[in-house]
Amino acid sequence: MEARAPQSQEWKQIDNFLNETLRKDIKWSLKDEYPLAFEEKNLANIRIIEEQGNILSHAVLKPTIIKTHWHVFKVGFIGSVVTNESHRGQGLSQSVIQSCIQAAEQQDCDFAMLWTDLFDFYQKFGFEVAGSEIALQVNTNFKSSTKKDLRILDTAQVSPHDILKLYNRHNLKTLRTAIDIQKYLKIPNSEVFTGWNRLTNQLEAYCVLGKGADFHNYIHEWGGSVSALLSLVESIQEKKNESITLITPPQCENLIRQMEALGAQKQFGVLGMIKIINPTNFCKKIKKGARALGHDQFIFEFRDGTYYFGYGQDVYQTTADSDMVRLVFGPLKADQIHEFSNQTLEIFKELFPIPFWVWGWDSI
Ligand SMILES: CC(C)(COP(=O)(O)OP(=O)(O)OC[C@H]1O[C@@H](n2cnc3c(N)ncnc32)[C@H](O)[C@@H]1OP(=O)(O)O)[C@@H](O)C(=O)NCCC(=O)NCCS
Repeated sequence: MEARAPQSQEWKQIDNFLNETLRKDIKWSLKDEYPLAFEEKNLANIRIIEEQGNILSHAVLKPTIIKTHWHVFKVGFIGSVVTNESHRGQGLSQSVIQSCIQAAEQQDCDFAMLWTDLFDFYQKFGFEVAGSEIALQVNTNFKSSTKKDLRILDTAQVSPHDILKLYNRHNLKTLRTAIDIQKYLKIPNSEVFTGWNRLTNQLEAYCVLGKGADFHNYIHEWGGSVSALLSLVESIQEKKNESITLITPPQCENLIRQMEALGAQKQFGVLGMIKIINPTNFCKKIKKGARALGHDQFIFEFRDGTYYFGYGQDVYQTTADSDMVRLVFGPLKADQIHEFSNQTLEIFKELFPIPFWVWGWDSI
């Protein structure tokens, strides 16, 4: 059976199907939890298999632009992959996922990404576990002697423009508008904490805890100066009186160091599963990023089904997409792939893993 994009009028059936199969005992719709993936303008990126008016299988693709300091990637997030219980094992998910991958190719995504614990299932489609994040767990001992005196609000009734202003200070970010943030602020089962300067009334920090069925007691969105954030996290912990975990890209070294100094427990985790969709463009972007850092003899190319990478004359070639994904995003090191010269290895060490992360509101 073939996967296809739905018509607008099929939305109600899809919504019912997703709620029955993925969110049975929960009051809100998946559309509320992932407002940008399921908004009307992304309908063409939904894939369903339908038989006599019944939805049997579903997945959604959400193309998203992510900027790092050195790259601009188009990433195809894939989520809400599910097949009706009575139709499993018949290749239906395979068909919807392949169709999402095709749609990502047609829309020039550099790579696709998803979150799952079914690693074997997605490896069959060429996804690899890659990337990393840091989890900082905060308990009652998380106390600073110089706590900033902020006015703390625990409400999502805040201006999306204020949040956007702080969010845009991140080097690593998804491109978002204030309207996107306004939609994200309405996600159910989520708490938005903000810290305001008492004199100027300016927003100094924000933290978002929880998101629908995910991220329970996890701060997955945050922004502001490190000092304001530390105070806000401390206030949230005091208020909740439970263990709270903030997740962050590993590159936020200052925040990580300061939180650890105040007693936070640090844990390393993987980011998700990634599959390169357009190897030629992907390699061009990685090479451009390296060149911007001054490594003008850095080689990272894809030609006729083969990746070429190295420095100057020290070049290795491979056809393994999985090695490329795990080299670029981590955790694979170049010397685990090939015996490069020390000079080449030093350059690879500086470049890889590239700083890459996805903020919680965008995960689907
Ligand atoms: C996981 C799920 C989507 C698979 O759907 P499906 O339509 O039965 O999958 P398919 O029949 O297309 O199977 C495709 C391949 O994956 C394999 N597979 C299926 N379920 C698997 C699982 N849970 N773990 C590992 N491999 C699995 C199949 O054997 C098949 O492999 P093959 O091509 O080598 O024979 C379905 O079991 C489901 O809806 N589960 C509940 C929701 C869920 O967990 N979704 C994933 C969230 S990330």
